[in-house]
Amino acid sequence: MSDPSEPVLPGSASDQSDPSDPSDPVLPGPGASDYERYLRTDELLALQKEPGEQVHHDELLFSTVHQASELWLKLAATEVGQAAVLIDGEDLPEALRLLRRAVLSLQYITAQLEMLNEMDPWDYQQIRVVLGHGSGFDSPGFRQVARVTPRIGAAFERALKRAGLDLTELYRHRREHEDLHQLAERLTEWDERIWVWRFRHYSVVARAIGEQSIGTQGTPVQVLGKLVAQRQLPKLWEARSRLVELFDAERAAGGQD
Ligand code: HEM
Repeated sequence: MSDPSEPVLPGSASDQSDPSDPSDPVLPGPGASDYERYLRTDELLALQKEPGEQVHHDELLFSTVHQASELWLKLAATEVGQAAVLIDGEDLPEALRLLRRAVLSLQYITAQLEMLNEMDPWDYQQIRVVLGHGSGFDSPGFRQVARVTPRIGAAFERALKRAGLDLTELYRHRREHEDLHQLAERLTEWDERIWVWRFRHYSVVARAIGEQSIGTQGTPVQVLGKLVAQRQLPKLWEARSRLVELFDAERAAGGQD
């Protein structure tokens, strides 16, 4: 047992593992404490280049933003995939809860892009050349997002069909279909967050390498600008335009003031 009057740092020489002592690790695996063992911090923190391996000091910043983004994207895509299953199981409140997390994850990775603007464009040149053909198009997290988004869109359409509604009817009679309406709004937010991330990423890229350059996989930066205009769940956006048309048509016919 450790002497309670003497603080013992986990993993220090005087730390003799004792399962009855809450400061002693009880989990299996490498790491001096259960914190390090559970979170596998040894492996996590070994994933970035050591200073001696870096071509530029800013490589740590660059890797941190990318690796952290991959984790948030993994969480986001997992939650969206599970939310799609819940929608098919008609558990809309739980699907909404998971979608909220997914939306927050995208907000976080969008905010993190700010850190890349702290890199000077001249300094970034040195990093750019050690990326090989590494390109964001191969981001596992973003690819997973691209896979699950149409899947949840389809699950939402099945839910609408079960309720015998189309999107404009849902918006016009939202109070009668509260959960479905909330779901439509949260899915719109999810798509909006992808859009906002893409726009922010584009402006960060433009700041780092300009709009006239070619990316590490040969893609002109301007292509990224065009991708900003893409919607993943276009029906949600089209419905809004239809609402404008419907309203104006009814107003012209004297049905709306
Ligand atoms: C200074 C920082 C960055 C630069 C200069 C940069 C540059 C680029 C470029 C030039 C492309 C076009 C593809 C190509 O490489 O040829 C691209 C695409 C992409 N990048 Fe980045 N990027 C940066 C940061 C990030 C970060 C932090 C992420 C986070 C995961 C990311 C994810 C992506 C994704 C997902 C794409 C595909 C774009 C899409 O589908 O809209 N990038 N990036």
